[in-house]
Amino acid sequence: MRALVVGNGAREHALAWKLLQSPKLEKLYLWGANDGFSDLGEVVEADSFEHLAGICIEKKIDIVIVGPEKPLADGLADVLSGHGVICIGANKYWAQLESSKVFAKDFCVRHSINTAKYEIIKDQNILPNLGYPLVLKADGLCAGKGVSIAEDEIQAQKTIQEYLDGKFGDASKTIVAEEFLSGQEFSLISLFDGETLLPFVCARDFKKLQNGDKGPNTGGMGAFCPVALTDEQKDKLDIFVDKLKSGLLKEKAGFVGVIYSGLIWAKDDFYLLEFNMRFGDPETQALMMHLESDILEVFELCAKKRLKEVVLSWKKGYSGCLTIATQGYPYDYPKEIPIKNISSEVEVFYAGVLKNPTLKSFGGRVLSFCATGDNPYAKIYKAAAELEFEKKYYRTDINIC
Ligand code: AMP
Ligand code: GLY
Repeated sequence: MRALVVGNGAREHALAWKLLQSPKLEKLYLWGANDGFSDLGEVVEADSFEHLAGICIEKKIDIVIVGPEKPLADGLADVLSGHGVICIGANKYWAQLESSKVFAKDFCVRHSINTAKYEIIKDQNILPNLGYPLVLKADGLCAGKGVSIAEDEIQAQKTIQEYLDGKFGDASKTIVAEEFLSGQEFSLISLFDGETLLPFVCARDFKKLQNGDKGPNTGGMGAFCPVALTDEQKDKLDIFVDKLKSGLLKEKAGFVGVIYSGLIWAKDDFYLLEFNMRFGDPETQALMMHLESDILEVFELCAKKRLKEVVLSWKKGYSGCLTIATQGYPYDYPKEIPIKNISSEVEVFYAGVLKNPTLKSFGGRVLSFCATGDNPYAKIYKAAAELEFEKKYYRTDINIC
């Protein structure tokens, strides 16, 4: 098969790395790959979705795997399937489960999926009655930056005003205010073929910048899988998955793609915090390290609506991932800092890097260091310490938990 991966981060590098292990793969194509993994396949240049569809037809690409949310929300899957190109990724309508918090909340309500109590705010003069701390979420896509926690009324009023004034453009002209829930978070990534919902093992993402889950939210400072579940959690997760699946079926969601449920264990049950219609980053790096099954075969069966035949197999132990970021992230940070001495003891997936001609940083999240085994973080932290990158920043407390 000829497969194309869309996207430029460490998540897409991990997908490409795993696809390359498939005996079914004849050739890999990449659209948007960063310098760190662009040599893994043939890079295609397209300036529109139509253009990309034409390239897929010309090069006889059998399957396209879309990494990021933006192209899905902008209708990439619709354009590709309109041209008969097979794509793993939701259509524009169902991408709204990620691109509109209001759409996602309405879906949860229609299907009795537990989610935090909420109110929709469009007017700055009406404060929600959900207590404090209060969670305020911009309705639309904000590259992971649209969630704020207000500790009191004054902070809530300020944030609401900023959002409605267009802090994130049209994306924040509608706000979802939510009751604050506290508990451990779980990332449940599933494939959906229009009939079957196939969950992967649970992963855990470390979203906060600093040790002890302090500091601002980030795109993810590390992730591991599988997360151990109690018997009660297993039962409740099955109930969640059943509700999600039956909701999608009742609404005749015909898409073929990924659905990521960001869950929190609170009040003795799972509550949905968010849906993403794509693989998580950095969860995918850990999941691809951990998956034994042939991912291309799984994607192929998904595209053929034969997911019910798939039984995923996983390696023993755990797989872990640590994000190596640039000091200053998630705010301003320097660029083009040389990177050397990358250990061969870990698998490295590249994010914000350049090769011109030697390796340099070019983003906030720069590298994903990954390993498998009973104690993956021993190897990972050794490699992180050895890494020569003057502005490196990483959390030092990430571990299996
Ligand atoms: P979201 O993009 O909706 O997943 O939110 C990003 C992060 O904000 C989540 O992973 C949580 O850590 C936090 N968060 C979101 N919603 C809530 C909530 N209702 N209560 C507490 N924390 C939340
Ligand atoms: N790791 C969270 C996300 O991909 O949105």
